[in-house]
Amino acid sequence: LFAGCRSLPSTRPPAPMSMAVIPAPASVQTLSGSFTLDAHTRLTVAGSGDSEWIAGYFIKLLQSSRGFTLQIDARATPSHSRGGIAFAIDAAAPVTNAEGYLLTITPEGVAVSARDRRGLFYGAITLWQLITADARHATRISLPALRIVDQPRFRWRGVMLDSARHFQSPGFIEHFVDAMAIHKLNVLHWHLTDDQAWRLEIKKYPRLTAVGAWRVPAGHAATSDIDSATGKPRLYGGFYSQESVRQIVAYAAERGVTIVPEIEMPGHATAAIVAYPKLGVLDAPPTAVPSDWGIYPNLYNAEESTLRFLEDVLDETMGLFPGEYIHVGGDEAVKDQWKASPRIQERMRELGVANEAQLQSYFVHRMERYLRAHGRRLIGWDEILEGGIAPDATVMSWRGIDGALAAAHGGHDAVLSPWPTLYLDNRQSEAATDPPGRGRVISLEDMYRFNPMPAALAAAEERHVLGLQADAWTEHMRTEERVEFMTFPRAAAVAEVGWSQATRLDWNDFVTRLVPEFDRYRALGIGHANSVFSVRIDAQAPLTNGSARIRLSNQGHHGEIRYTLDGSAPTATSTRYQNEFDTGPQGEIRAATFQGDHLISSIAARKLDVSSVGRRSSRDLKLCSERLALALEDDAPLVGDRAMFMIDLMNPCWIYQAADLSSGATLSAAVGQLPFNFQIGDDVHKIEFHQPQSAAGELEVRIDSCDGERIAVLPLAPAARHDDVTVLPAARIAPRAGRHDLCLSFTQNGVDPLWAIDWISLDR
Ligand code: ACM
Repeated sequence: LFAGCRSLPSTRPPAPMSMAVIPAPASVQTLSGSFTLDAHTRLTVAGSGDSEWIAGYFIKLLQSSRGFTLQIDARATPSHSRGGIAFAIDAAAPVTNAEGYLLTITPEGVAVSARDRRGLFYGAITLWQLITADARHATRISLPALRIVDQPRFRWRGVMLDSARHFQSPGFIEHFVDAMAIHKLNVLHWHLTDDQAWRLEIKKYPRLTAVGAWRVPAGHAATSDIDSATGKPRLYGGFYSQESVRQIVAYAAERGVTIVPEIEMPGHATAAIVAYPKLGVLDAPPTAVPSDWGIYPNLYNAEESTLRFLEDVLDETMGLFPGEYIHVGGDEAVKDQWKASPRIQERMRELGVANEAQLQSYFVHRMERYLRAHGRRLIGWDEILEGGIAPDATVMSWRGIDGALAAAHGGHDAVLSPWPTLYLDNRQSEAATDPPGRGRVISLEDMYRFNPMPAALAAAEERHVLGLQADAWTEHMRTEERVEFMTFPRAAAVAEVGWSQATRLDWNDFVTRLVPEFDRYRALGIGHANSVFSVRIDAQAPLTNGSARIRLSNQGHHGEIRYTLDGSAPTATSTRYQNEFDTGPQGEIRAATFQGDHLISSIAARKLDVSSVGRRSSRDLKLCSERLALALEDDAPLVGDRAMFMIDLMNPCWIYQAADLSSGATLSAAVGQLPFNFQIGDDVHKIEFHQPQSAAGELEVRIDSCDGERIAVLPLAPAARHDDVTVLPAARIAPRAGRHDLCLSFTQNGVDPLWAIDWISLDR
């Protein structure tokens, strides 16, 4: 590690960076010697039943990842545990923080102690990580002697999970909590209500889940999927019974995770208003739970009965979630309905509030008083600052960090959760294997480099930053598998930023530590992205011959990339990639990342014949603009794999860059149609299309620019009746010298359905 720093004075042996532990501990001191652990190592516990539970958790982790089962030795006490591992909760442990712990490894034994069960739990996790640092050592494990004194930098290390847009099973929520726990993440902000669903059982208002938890998904494919039991389109949904919530909350608490429930108000309220129309503003309120994404204009009204309803809901919520904080949403409440409603305007006069922002502030003040009277604290998205923040409210800053700055300047606490950097719905790479999401790439490194302590805060204000949180909004995460893929390992980066001291943060070291972390994920069945190590293969056909120019890279710039050209799987002795090269025009390249002889990525493959190199998926095309770029999944087929389209919703237009047209080309296109299920308000009028020449519209191809000459037109009629992807009849493009950008866009009369390119292929 210090080989590059020979000029440093070497009076003291340097402390090892952080071993294979994520998040990096606050302080690691190396001692001399080592301790060898195997299946016969004794484990003793002291301090309470909690120590025993934690020892049991540690044993299970080890069992999953190393295959042997340590026994708790009930006869021995920790003070007589020479030669073994001792876990103790001890009021005299030399740590100052309830989440802190002391871990010592000497040739005589291993001891983990903490003042509180949370600290001991984290010490056990760290010990498990040290034991699983090297995949090659599975049965007799030598642990270097050391002393770790650890505690978190921030007290709020969170992940938000949106269970409204898509529903995850209670079993998955527990699995997700376990995955959080091994990262020392300690807050699960659970987004339980939104326009598209209400997921929390409230006994006093059963329609919230009987009605509000169910919807018909958007698009023709779903609306034509008739449920034979009802004769109507099949409903998507689910909810969490109070019994299952109690179980999840207790499960999380055992693992040091507090669940902060979110009940959205006054906006993102459509599902509740559909269930109980009297809560809404309109005379003709919505009658079905909607399935569009975006921001609906439906707000709660401000009648006393509605405020009481919300207090009733908070009552039952507090009964289920014992944590200090209750989240009341507050974001994106567009005030159009309040402005247009005579009754709301009258109500504002009754309440003595001057404008709609103050009415929202009145709402939040009232809820804050209610929560405070019950010994709880209110947290809300940064819009709760508008119109005046409630006295004890905590701000979750999502529109950048300005909300956090304003909160801290005003003496309020804040949690940093800024879009886009900490939003897990953003793609994490451009790879074809990445699932749908927002189009912007927020890489693992982007999250890792997030600064959790804004420079604009005075030293005395820093204590108001409780911590940070990454948010898994699930509009585009239809499956639990995708939730995990989008969350991990980026949540590991957030965990390290939240736990580790700023001086311990080191991207290259973090990436090295991810290698054993990914082994642990596999052992525990934690789904995750491997974007950081995956090899990206760029292939472009040069003009003169048919061969392809190959460029290989991985996002983490880590390890060695090795490849084959004969169709075999790359190994640790395959050719190492150094610089771009030409090959082909046939066969296939396969490439993977190695760390020494350890394969640390999946194997990427790409065919190199001329027609494969000439074919580009929508991910390989350039978007003409990125005003609202999305990686959207098709709505069909209902069962099985669906195509995914990169598209700028505000300007559906793609560029095939540098096409070689010297011999002319046959242009083929595969296209799909998406439901336009986006509530984007008046912005919908900003989407412009060329006029169609036929009823179904056309795919138009223009040369050199999007205003350039139209050189091909592919009618959409053959695709009009297909929910799925359709390959259109090809069009011939006449020869032109050199390379040209081709601009591809659709003609259509309205936005629905929205046509999208799956792939474009150019053949000679
Ligand atoms: C949010 O992203 N609307 C908090």
